[in-house]
Amino acid sequence: MKKIAIITGASTGLGREFAKVIRKKEEIDEIWAIARHQDKLNRLRKQLGKKIRPVPMDLSKSDKIEKLGDMLSAEQATVLYLINNAGYAKFCSYGDLSVRDSINMIDLNISGVVAMGLICIPFMPRGSHIINVSSQAAFQPLPYQNLYSSTKAFVRNYTRALNVELKDRGITATAVCPGWLKTNLYERADIGAAKATKRFYGMNTPDKVARKAVEDAEKGKDISIYSFYVNFCHIGAKLLPQKLMMELWLRQQHINPYSLPSQQ
Ligand SMILES: NC(=O)c1ccc[n+]([C@@H]2O[C@H](COP(=O)([O-])OP(=O)(O)OC[C@H]3O[C@@H](n4cnc5c(N)ncnc54)[C@H](OP(=O)(O)O)[C@@H]3O)[C@@H](O)[C@H]2O)c1
Repeated sequence: MKKIAIITGASTGLGREFAKVIRKKEEIDEIWAIARHQDKLNRLRKQLGKKIRPVPMDLSKSDKIEKLGDMLSAEQATVLYLINNAGYAKFCSYGDLSVRDSINMIDLNISGVVAMGLICIPFMPRGSHIINVSSQAAFQPLPYQNLYSSTKAFVRNYTRALNVELKDRGITATAVCPGWLKTNLYERADIGAAKATKRFYGMNTPDKVARKAVEDAEKGKDISIYSFYVNFCHIGAKLLPQKLMMELWLRQQHINPYSLPSQQ
């Protein structure tokens, strides 16, 4: 049987760093690298070598994801690592996005994660790991990143509960909650909205987050947090009322919810 890892959103940013970490594992024969653009995945294979197998797929389309189950059966693959990393943000108010764009974010950030897990778990043996990328944005409601932070709160809760449910199968599930990372996320997130996230405190590079996430998954932790700043925010969000946390966030971002957009 072929032993594989599946990494979604593997072509850039945090996903590429996950691919670098998993590539070093001798027991892995292939890394199925999923993203929409084939050219970027081919580039990844050139950079990281033949273990990388490009699997171009739009994970916001559930009918496409279902084909993955057929591929796993046909190739008699056993999945040792499933890393659900693909996701995106939009820095704006609820009304700045069309209904279609709002639902698409939910389709990728939530439905894609759930579908990938449900399809892959039957192919995962004891000792295998699911790593779902959530965010520091999951710790509290975030006005003007309302939808994104809510999708990541879902991923965090879902993953931690899944970790309990998977104990009898010997599979771990870990929610990774990074703070700001130097990646391409901002290109898609910044749509020029008047009230939007513009200040990025505690920025980190994604390599450290990927390394720690894999270590934490292998230790069986249900949550992985990197950096003093993100840990501090995590504790703050547990101790302080959520209304106060939202107020602090708005002050940090210099956003006045009562002003007209043109006055920001
Ligand atoms: N950057 C941050 O500050 C930060 C902080 C906390 C959490 N995160 C989370 O980290 C994860 C990785 O993001 P990143 O920062 O590394 O951003 P990124 O550099 O923009 O990477 C996103 C990856 O997802 C793929 N992707 C996007 N839409 C897709 C779709 N519909 N189907 C399949 N693949 C898709 C992209 O490739 P294609 O465009 O070719 O599809 C790319 O490989 C996300 O879940 C994000 O929410 C990021």
